[in-house]
Amino acid sequence: MIKDLVLAKEWLPAAYSHDLTDQPLQVTILEERVVLFRTSNAIKAFKDLCIHRGAALSLGKVVDDCIVCPYHGWKYDDAGACVKIPQQPPGRAIPSKAKAQVYDCVEKYGIIWVKMNSEAGDTPLPLYDEHLNSGFKT
Ligand code: FES
Repeated sequence: MIKDLVLAKEWLPAAYSHDLTDQPLQVTILEERVVLFRTSNAIKAFKDLCIHRGAALSLGKVVDDCIVCPYHGWKYDDAGACVKIPQQPPGRAIPSKAKAQVYDCVEKYGIIWVKMNSEAGDTPLPLYDEHLNSGFKT
């Protein structure tokens, strides 16, 4: 549970862009474990917890723009919805509760930013104009 409800409304730096490869990456933000992963067109941030039995999604892999849990293979799309449960009989609907918790995530200035409370509205990203200055080193 996020304890700092004020900071949860802000964009927080989660990782450098170059630190996120094609493998999921676990980071800790406001004492919460978060998994970052790349899809073909974006970076996603989910709570690092599979809703099935609590495995860390960061130990899984990215397949077809989805993150696949390493334990029983539940597959979550980029909106957090579970789209495949390998053990389920064919034709059975996936429960609507089978969802990952999704956080807002953007990439800018070579940094991946995460906002833990997506109901906070349009919080602007921090200005980081120095990033444009070639003489400035991060
Ligand atoms: S714990 Fe993730 S699929 Fe079972």
